[in-house]
Amino acid sequence: MNRSTINAILRAASAFIRERGFHLPPFAYWTLEEWRTRGAECAEIVDNRLGWDVTDFGTGDFAHTGLTLFTLRNGNPRDPARKPYAEKILVVEEGQVTPLHFHWRKTEDIINRGGGALTVQLYASTSDERLDESQAITVSIDGIRRTVAAGSIVRLQPGESITLPPRLYHAFWGDTGRVLVGEVSSLNDDASDNRFLHPIGRFPAIDEDEPPLYLLCTDYERFSILR
Ligand SMILES: [Fe+2]
Repeated sequence: MNRSTINAILRAASAFIRERGFHLPPFAYWTLEEWRTRGAECAEIVDNRLGWDVTDFGTGDFAHTGLTLFTLRNGNPRDPARKPYAEKILVVEEGQVTPLHFHWRKTEDIINRGGGALTVQLYASTSDERLDESQAITVSIDGIRRTVAAGSIVRLQPGESITLPPRLYHAFWGDTGRVLVGEVSSLNDDASDNRFLHPIGRFPAIDEDEPPLYLLCTDYERFSILR
């Protein structure tokens, strides 16, 4: 992805997050220059990969297959007992799909925090980690148990949430407009806990055609933050 495209996405996402009355921590808006004035006190942000994350899942078609996220808090897979939980805020565009995937370890609640409706498609997985196209799935939607057929699409209106246990395949996209989505979960490890049904690039290669507006969580290494 071009850095200029990522900057434009971040500009729109941060405006939408503000519009919805949700507030990000100060480091969301630090410039590269501000990052470079910081020291080891920010190690938790860098080590636990907090912050912005923009991906087109390697498709080159962000509008249809992509996601903008901000990790507000997370533990570290090297010391999982210390902070075993994570929280993200996601901006999901209408018709913008996060492809089918599951997590081997993470349990996550996906929460519609406002905007349009969020649609979530669900499949159980087989023991060899493929889609189970016949098995019905029982999920909890705001504490209410519901059993749905394989491949069902559940619509979450603002305020509604669903609990996604490990090994349950899920894909989601915005339905009627842009959606602000919360994710509250056990420890998040994007390096080793994402099983996408079709292999994808989780973090895009970036063409640096202009300076970064805000750093992505993958930029800390690229720009040698705290090194
Ligand atoms: Fe997920």
